[in-house]
Order: sequence, then structure tokens, then C-alpha cells
Amino acid sequence: MSNIVIELLGPTNVRQSEVDGINKLLPQLSKKAKPITLGWLLCACGRRTSSLRRSCLYVARDTEVYTSDSIVGMALIYFVWGPDGWHSEIHAVVVDENHRGLKIGKMLTEKLVATAKEVAAVNQESFNVYLTSKPERVAANNMYLSMGFKLVAKADGDNGTNLYKLLVTP
Ligand SMILES: CC(C)(COP(=O)(O)OP(=O)(O)OC[C@H]1O[C@@H](n2cnc3c(N)ncnc32)[C@H](O)[C@@H]1OP(=O)(O)O)[C@@H](O)C(=O)NCCC(=O)NCCS
Repeated sequence: MSNIVIELLGPTNVRQSEVDGINKLLPQLSKKAKPITLGWLLCACGRRTSSLRRSCLYVARDTEVYTSDSIVGMALIYFVWGPDGWHSEIHAVVVDENHRGLKIGKMLTEKLVATAKEVAAVNQESFNVYLTSKPERVAANNMYLSMGFKLVAKADGDNGTNLYKLLVTP
């Protein structure tokens, strides 16, 4: 879709409209999701994170819409440094239900993986990107497998989640 762009949120492009857009998406990710605030979003967008801990929050935006409804997807990646090297996790990948099946989820996840590769290149270090997904999230599990993520632990029990990893190299 030519009118969809993937945008990195940062201190300069976060306003209440981004908060409202994300708060429309979160219930589509989890019924238990709590609404975020502008303070939370500024924190997630890196203003207060150190160089050893960083998060990158991307949104998919429909450039033909000029309200908070312009945000039609989101995805978040964390990087944390520890003595054994970098560690990365993907969270909160969700596409608005009226925009699914249009490759927006894949575009968002590709952007997260590209960001992880940049971190690997800057630090000249390979590391794994981890994510979890419940087995009933069929579209999500298919998407991660089709993008090269490896299933490393299968969900165990009713509330279990599948664990995936992807090795990124410089
Ligand atoms: C998972 C999700 C983000 C996918 O977003 P999307 O934009 O609809 O997906 P895409 O169009 O980019 O499809 C990417 C791949 O996902 C898989 N997929 C997408 N929709 C699917 C469906 N209805 N059934 C099975 N697989 C599906 C396919 O492998 C697809 O690749 P293909 O079209 O080349 O076969 C979206 O379905 C969603 O928001 N789901 C609810 C929240 C959620 O489960 N998030 C993941 C948390 S771990």
C-alpha cells in the first residue's frame, strides 16, 4: 500500500494524537491492555533511556488520514546490554483489524529486524531477537515463521506462549 509509511516515534513527533492512536490499537492486541499516557510514550521513545537500554517504537501511518485514526499499526523493540552482550525483545506488534492482510504487520516487523541489525552493526556483535506469541495467534505465528524466526520453545499449557528467536549479525 503506497499510502502506508512506517514511522519511528521520537520526542519530536509524539503528541496526544499518537497516544490516542496507540490507545485505539492496544485493545486489539490484548483485552487486558491498559491505556498509555503521553509520559509513557515519551519514555518508550527513548528520551530517558540510557545507551545501554533503548527502545524503538514504530507506528504504521496512513498518510491520507489526518486524525489519530492515521495510526493503523504499531510494533516495539527493546535492546538491553548486559555482561553477556546485547539482548533484544519484540513486543506489542498489532495492526488495526480493518487493515489486516495488507502486509503492514510484516513491514513493521521487518523494520524492527532492520533496527536490530543496525544495533548489531554499530556494536559489531551478533545477538538474538526474542519474542513470544500465544499459539492461538495464528496470523502472528505464521508471520514470524515466514520471516525466519525459529521456534525455540513451544507453548506449554493453556496460558503458555511460543518463544521465537532470530539471530541478527553485523
Ligand atoms: C499478527 C498481525 C500483526 C499481522 O498483521 P497483518 O498486517 O495482518 O499481516 P501481514 O498482512 O503483514 O501478513 C504477514 C504474514 O502473516 C501471516 N498471516 C497474516 N494474516 C493471516 C491470517 N489471517 N491467517 C494466517 N496467516 C496470516 C501470513 O504468513 C502473512 O504472510 P503471507 O501473506 O505472505 O502469507 C495482525 O494479525 C494482528 O494485529 N493480530 C492481532 C494482534 C497479534 O496477535 N499480535 C501479535 C502479538 S505476538
